[in-house]
Amino acid sequence: PDLNAYIRGLPKAELHLHIEGTLEPELIFELAARNHMAIPYSSVEALRAAYAFTDLQSFLDLYYAGASVLITEQDFYDMTMAYLRRARADGVLHAEIMFDPQTHTGRGVAIETVFAGIARALREVRAATGISSYLLMSFLRHLSEQEAFDTLAAALPLREQYNDVWIGIGLDSAELGNPPDKFARIFARCKELEFRLVAHAGEEGPAAYVSDALDVLHVERIDHGVRSEDDPALMQRLIRDQVPLTVCPLSNLKLCVVDALEQHNLARLLRQGAMVTINSDDPAYFGGYVGQNYLATAQALGLSKQELGTLARNSLESCFLPADQKQVLL
Ligand code: ADE
Ligand code: ZN
Repeated sequence: PDLNAYIRGLPKAELHLHIEGTLEPELIFELAARNHMAIPYSSVEALRAAYAFTDLQSFLDLYYAGASVLITEQDFYDMTMAYLRRARADGVLHAEIMFDPQTHTGRGVAIETVFAGIARALREVRAATGISSYLLMSFLRHLSEQEAFDTLAAALPLREQYNDVWIGIGLDSAELGNPPDKFARIFARCKELEFRLVAHAGEEGPAAYVSDALDVLHVERIDHGVRSEDDPALMQRLIRDQVPLTVCPLSNLKLCVVDALEQHNLARLLRQGAMVTINSDDPAYFGGYVGQNYLATAQALGLSKQELGTLARNSLESCFLPADQKQVLL
């Protein structure tokens, strides 16, 4: 309880969070009812019991199915508000939130609806509480380069309207077999457009995907990156350049990236001097929001309060806020 309060009190940012991954089973059932949709599970408990994953793909199948209850602007708003309430309770002062428009446009939901509902919640919470947030529009790597370009083209007319929130681009979904170079041209275009760039790499995929995310996609942060340790030269580079790694311990446990939290390399990465942060990824599916990720990791790896403080401070240092706003939080 004491460590819990300490963690909650640390000023922190959450930098690796998929908003669709915050849809709790209760809200899935509520939205399905509201939208007159059937769910192939008899109860909230039966749905939650299905969250027994063996790898990334086994999770993605349920995650995309769960997101199919999101239809209206209000649905996206309600989901986002529920996350921001949880984040606030965990002492999050700033959140950089990924969303997957292709998951919704592929079902006939307009991209305008997705932007409008999420942004309305972010703006309301910013005005009411001072908690700031940014959006990272993520491309699904199991889809084609052309589909990513089509998504960017659909979103760009909205850029001006959402320039207070939409600041960056991400890359997620099935990593193996969908290497960074598949998205070299779309990321080059997004860089020209002066978006901030991140990509998932080294979650299930090899360390070479991390190197390529840096060298080919020119990203500023690596989402996950835990497999970077397989390449000592890459590790030296990540430490030298202080490339932020947005690590998600409970996600890695649930997706069998590690067999036990005690075997997670987060503490080793941190103690080597890497710019490590702790995040929740898809908290509704992985059993804990960001505070729980700090707590479970601290207990499994014996992190000191000072190390927890470093991790929280790293999250603020690694965020995309302008330097003056960052300074206020640090
Ligand atoms: N989409 C949502 N969560 C993800 C993860 N952990 N890896 C890849 N794609 C994702
Ligand atoms: Zn992720």
